[in-house]
Amino acid sequence: QKQGDKIKVGFSQAMTTDDWRKQMNISIKVEASLRPEVDLTIKDADNNVQNQIEDIEKFIADKVDVIIVSPIQSKPLTAVVEKSIKAGIPVLVVDRKIDGENYSAYLGADNIEIGRIAARYIISNSKGSGKIIEITGASGSSPAYERSLGFNQIIAKNNRFEINGTIHGDWEKESVKAPLKTILEQNPDIEYIFAHNDRMALSAWETAKTQGLEKKIKFLSVDGLNTVNGGIELVKSDVLDGTILYPTGGNEALKLALKMYNKEPISKNNILNTIVIDQNNAEIIENQMDKVDQQQAVIESQQRAIKVQEGEYASQNNLVRLLSFF
Ligand code: FRU
Repeated sequence: QKQGDKIKVGFSQAMTTDDWRKQMNISIKVEASLRPEVDLTIKDADNNVQNQIEDIEKFIADKVDVIIVSPIQSKPLTAVVEKSIKAGIPVLVVDRKIDGENYSAYLGADNIEIGRIAARYIISNSKGSGKIIEITGASGSSPAYERSLGFNQIIAKNNRFEINGTIHGDWEKESVKAPLKTILEQNPDIEYIFAHNDRMALSAWETAKTQGLEKKIKFLSVDGLNTVNGGIELVKSDVLDGTILYPTGGNEALKLALKMYNKEPISKNNILNTIVIDQNNAEIIENQMDKVDQQQAVIESQQRAIKVQEGEYASQNNLVRLLSFF
């Protein structure tokens, strides 16, 4: 099969600095490696909206067959996604959304529901009342908006619980420290912290620890990665009370992109399952995820071996061709 015959899939990734996105890239690459007809290109926007717009413009100019995008922010990425649709290139939006409905399909867990699950978890695991701090993801990114929406909906219905402070984080650890320190100084009786991801929750725990409050507060967050300092490890080491699994959907994204290319019917909204990971199931989930990681590693090493063999085969062929001159 010639390069030109392949199905060109362009994936515009928001950034690749954190483990969640690294895992997403691994799973989409593994899926692509199992499909020789696919030519996958990943462009990393480095958390810069302008870069991401340019990356997608480039995919449109290159006339890729399908675009997958995880938009850094909703609003600024909306126009370029619409441009791609107008140019006849279908767009699968993953994890974070754009504004409006002008995309081909969406894939990701239900972030409003994740917020609700977090609130219900706090309510049902408490002694009946409590003061809460919420730490949000970056403003302008849809999971931050939606997780907050769902969380506040449920807490607002329950007059025994109160959100005593909201920290507007940016998904990363540093954004949590200074504002949380101030809030905890003023409210040392805070009992729950819900952070929109595990990285910020760990940062919150570290900050509370400097004030000797880390054991009094229960921490809940989102992602549930099976990595060093990932949510599962933090649950097992009693840093987090729980984390709500937010699957990256890398492999599903590629499968859906191919269905879109083949014009097979798919739903507009493709919702990935989620689950609360806490002391009750962390071990089991960790074992399952270890197995998947091992399988992915085997596939990756087989793919590398095949590439080496292909290279040797090509150079042998060249040699045969050269010898045939004599
Ligand atoms: C990774 C991340 C995750 C979070 C997701 C939301 O970059 O910050 O921690 O769940 O993005 O889009």
